[in-house]
Amino acid sequence: MNKLRVLQACSLILYFPLMIILTTCTTTKNTVTNNENNSPVSTSTTITSLSTSVTTSNDTIVEMMAEKGQIVYAAHCASCHGENGEGGLAFPLIGTKANLAKYDDANGLLNKISSTMPKNSPGSLSQQDNINVLFFLLLQNNEVSGQSLYDPNALSQIKLN
Ligand code: HEC
Repeated sequence: MNKLRVLQACSLILYFPLMIILTTCTTTKNTVTNNENNSPVSTSTTITSLSTSVTTSNDTIVEMMAEKGQIVYAAHCASCHGENGEGGLAFPLIGTKANLAKYDDANGLLNKISSTMPKNSPGSLSQQDNINVLFFLLLQNNEVSGQSLYDPNALSQIKLN
């Protein structure tokens, strides 16, 4: 009887530290695994945001957008508005004969273009193409500086004269 009690007590005494060691090990293991999981995630986030900012900084310089817009203009607008925006079948869009001030600001002009142009297929261009062609027209009409940065939230601050 006594021996059995001693054995029981011994196994209990052994049992508790063992449990503590086991628990500690498992917890440590988890922490390590979590860290391992976290670090690659945060690294790839950094890479993504870096590459995004690189792409954006190229695209947000008005001159670069206008260059792309010129290609859009030649393909989708020139047939009616003239090769250089001087007018033809439809109103002039570039130069002193153009009358874009009635759209108040760049946002108004963008809405006009994206919802009604090209006249033969309204709304068929991507919004990015609409924005690029908008900046082509704005730059050609000296409404913006080529080196300025594109701010999608500030279009209504570009007033048209
Ligand atoms: C098939 C002929 C045609 C094509 C292609 C076309 N337009 Fe037009 N556009 C017109 C006509 C016609 C008007 C006048 C009627 C109107 O405002 O809807 C006009 C009007 C406009 C106006 C308003 C001008 C003003 O003085 O009020 C803008 C800005 C414009 N177009 C931009 C564009 C852009 C940018 C493109 C190319 C993405 C384009 N258009 C393609 C026929 C065309």
